[in-house]
Amino acid sequence: MEFRRTFRAGDVVFAQGDPGDCAYVVERGSIEIFARTGGGELSLARRVPGELFGEMAIIDDQPRSASARALEDSVLLMITREQLNQRIEGTDPILRMCIQVVLGHLRDTLHRLTHDGATLEAGPQCELTREAREEALAAIRLEQELQGALDCGQLELWYQPVVSLRDGTVAGFEALMRWRHPERGLVPPVVFIPAAERCGLIVSMTRWAFRQACNDLRRFQAVADRPPTFMSVNFSGKDFMSPDFLEAIDGALAETGTDPRAVKLEITETLLMHSPETARSVLQACRDRGASVAIDDFGTGYSSLSYLQSLPADTLKIDQSFIRAMVEDASSRSLVRSIVGLAKGLDMKIVAEGIEGRAEAAILRDLDVDYGQGYLYARPLPADEMARRLATWTPIV
Ligand code: CMP
Ligand code: MG
Repeated sequence: MEFRRTFRAGDVVFAQGDPGDCAYVVERGSIEIFARTGGGELSLARRVPGELFGEMAIIDDQPRSASARALEDSVLLMITREQLNQRIEGTDPILRMCIQVVLGHLRDTLHRLTHDGATLEAGPQCELTREAREEALAAIRLEQELQGALDCGQLELWYQPVVSLRDGTVAGFEALMRWRHPERGLVPPVVFIPAAERCGLIVSMTRWAFRQACNDLRRFQAVADRPPTFMSVNFSGKDFMSPDFLEAIDGALAETGTDPRAVKLEITETLLMHSPETARSVLQACRDRGASVAIDDFGTGYSSLSYLQSLPADTLKIDQSFIRAMVEDASSRSLVRSIVGLAKGLDMKIVAEGIEGRAEAAILRDLDVDYGQGYLYARPLPADEMARRLATWTPIV
């Protein structure tokens, strides 16, 4: 497989109408892009080192829209169809639609420009596939409905207790968002949270959830024999990027009369990949206020251990996949034991997620894990039901 091609001054890289097999980035030299017109040639652009060309035919699977030739001896780096398409397919469906539509307009303009200027005949059309159109449409609809859901109270906050493994009492809760869609019923979070993150609505949703959770914690504390001490709320990278994040947190704490020490921010490892510096400083500011920070789904992301050490986090939540596998599988058990050792070495509290049976709970208690969460104790419940369960809670050990 070639990655680089060399051309002499005057060589044609590809000709208008050719099928496209790859795009190019100029590494050395310069390239002229030109199109055929009725009488001759129309020079369109000059590409110099670092610049890309030949991407259109790869993206929309149409013939080359123009020709390219080397203006001097040049070296070109190739970008394969797979390299480009992998990225385009992995991106937001609405963005993908925009790219295709803009490409269509460009091809059309080029066609009108190079054919008889007076004609209004449309140029070659690049049609979106039916799947791509439907996917974009579904994404647009979902995002609009989600906005509506937030405005008219279709979002609900459910709670799952986090239990002390030592004595089976409820130590705190994790607040979990649910969307009760008027026609579709309960929409799973795996569907609507990523959509909310893509369109930025997640920021308003998290703010709503945080305030609601603070209020409900007070309510839970009032009904329990042994008042739970903390409320965990999930945050996304977008939340930390919003410039007034800390003001919003402070506002909600003050208005709901919540002690910051009762608040735990749950974040995932992947969230921190995007802008670690901002995230780190915002999290530190939360810690400075007395709040705690938990790393969620630990073990499923791809952060390095040095990264973990540099984070202002004090709690580690071990992902349920490890906990579930642990009873049957000795290697999963050693893995959990290592994670526990790691967390203890860093002086972090540990929450085991997804505990379904007493066997898991017993193993984890032997490992001196602090907290557990899972169906063994309770499924996530709406606030009213959670309050009722809490009033008559019998410790499960
Ligand atoms: P592609 O159609 O694969 O091959 C020809 C390339 O020329 C095209 O991708 C673009 O990279 C480039 N190109 C086409 N039209 C223009 C234009 N109007 N201005 C600059 N570059 C162009
Ligand atoms: Mg969580």
